[in-house]
Amino acid sequence: MNNTIKFLLDDNVVEIDFRKEKNLRPTTTVLNYLRSLSSHKGVKEGCAEGDCGACTIVLGEKKADRKIKYTAVDSCLVFLPMIHGKQLITVENLSQKKDGKVILHPVQEAMVNSFGSQCGYCTPGFIMSLFALYKNHNNPTREVIEDSLSGNLCRCTGYQSILESAMKACTKNGGDHFTERESLTSKILKEINKEKTTIHIVSGDQTYFHPFTLDDALMLRKHYRNAIVVNGATDVALRQTKRNEKLTEIIDLSGVDELKIYDEEENGFYFGAGMSIEKMKNLCEKPFPALYNILKVFGSLQIRNFATIGGNVGSASPIGDTLPVLFAKNAKVILQNSKNKREVDIEDFIKGYRKTDLKDDELITSIFLPKPKKNEIIKSYKVSKRKDLDISTVSLSCRLVLNKGEVKEMILAYGGMAETTRRAKKTEEYLEGREWNRANIEEAMKIVKEEFAPITDARASAEFRKIAAGNLLMKLFIDRS
Ligand SMILES: Cc1cc2nc3c(=O)[nH]c(=O)nc-3n(C[C@H](O)[C@H](O)[C@H](O)COP(=O)(O)OP(=O)(O)OC[C@H]3O[C@@H](n4cnc5c(N)ncnc54)[C@H](O)[C@@H]3O)c2cc1C
Ligand code: FES
Ligand code: FES
Repeated sequence: MNNTIKFLLDDNVVEIDFRKEKNLRPTTTVLNYLRSLSSHKGVKEGCAEGDCGACTIVLGEKKADRKIKYTAVDSCLVFLPMIHGKQLITVENLSQKKDGKVILHPVQEAMVNSFGSQCGYCTPGFIMSLFALYKNHNNPTREVIEDSLSGNLCRCTGYQSILESAMKACTKNGGDHFTERESLTSKILKEINKEKTTIHIVSGDQTYFHPFTLDDALMLRKHYRNAIVVNGATDVALRQTKRNEKLTEIIDLSGVDELKIYDEEENGFYFGAGMSIEKMKNLCEKPFPALYNILKVFGSLQIRNFATIGGNVGSASPIGDTLPVLFAKNAKVILQNSKNKREVDIEDFIKGYRKTDLKDDELITSIFLPKPKKNEIIKSYKVSKRKDLDISTVSLSCRLVLNKGEVKEMILAYGGMAETTRRAKKTEEYLEGREWNRANIEEAMKIVKEEFAPITDARASAEFRKIAAGNLLMKLFIDRS
């Protein structure tokens, strides 16, 4: 049994053997692990739910060439085995000591020179987001900078000086002391990642599996049917951090590369269930703008870097942002157990409030999304209290085919209006065969209002949701006129 995880920290390979560790469990978050080390207390806890970015760290991952891919993530939602085979970079790693002098990293220097910090609580998190931006972009646009910082909150400084420091710093093609060591780092990570035997950690009453192949993952699913499956854990981790639930048996799919595939066929795209939302967003920019626009406002960059499409579909949340688009395009969910594969329409897969058709020996392996056709209009809208880092209050995705000014085909898939993503079938029926004009849309707005019985909660009242649902229909009409 392999109880040990390995990762790179401070240029050393760290090995954690959970049998020997009294204070670490497999679901200890990277944040809590770092806070337990005297040398890495720069990382901070603000919310423990992915909302503030004070805990941001950067993970370095080996790419096919000798390069390292740097991604910012919220360490409060990352379980320790998820960083196996990666480089863990914290704010303490950015400056260097040379001839007795401390040399700040360009992003730190720019923050100092732009007066980007006051009380300093949020600063290490901002610095790490800026560091990932620095490594990935040269002379980024304001839009890219704002997006990179959308997962970091500051209650003192105001964001202008922080944005300015990003503009000042990110002009050196990512060059720094990490670049100088990149090839060595890549070699070390390659060595760690050679071993592909499932990591199987038993610690107290917890059992945690971190497989590397789909076959191993499916075998584990067959034998441990009550285990909680996680991929990015951006939903599941909150059960521990917010609800204090004990997660006793876990199958963590984050190490299975076969689940991260992307395949384009003549009729559509296959997105591996383990593909990050950020990668999916980037792949959709040209071929699927309606999905791209929704993924652009999905959580923050830190969340999108870890959250997966399989996890979004598997959560079956009534406000899951990908679901309305998948409904509008009649996407398929590809499910697999150790023997068989099956394909289910997304509408049949979602069974109720956070309920799916997934069997206890199955995994979601990919999502098939048909390509938009020339004659159809696909649009998506998200209403939330703020643009960045907020979940939907109401959302709408629509597929519309017009013929000589008449509605020939229509799908209206709403999020936030019922216990699951739900189509407005009466409204669709009313509009089909009618002229695409304002009078008919105004009538349809009345029908959609009556068709749903949404709840009142902290995000909005039922009445607000009904009005928003109708207004989104009018927005669609205006966008198409
Ligand atoms: C701060 C914050 C902001 C967020 N913002 C948004 C947002 O804007 N829009 C939005 O839609 N969501 C949002 N979320 C929710 C969450 O990030 C998404 O639902 C995400 O896609 C979940 O993916 P994951 O890989 O992290 O899932 P996990 O937490 O790993 O899993 C979620 C569920 O899916 C199941 N599952 C995962 N992978 C598989 C698989 N391969 N096979 C079978 N079952 C599987 C798990 O068992 C679990 O039930 C946010 C979350 C946080 C913490
Ligand atoms: S502590 Fe707030 S995002 Fe992690
Ligand atoms: S400097 Fe105080 S919270 Fe940002």
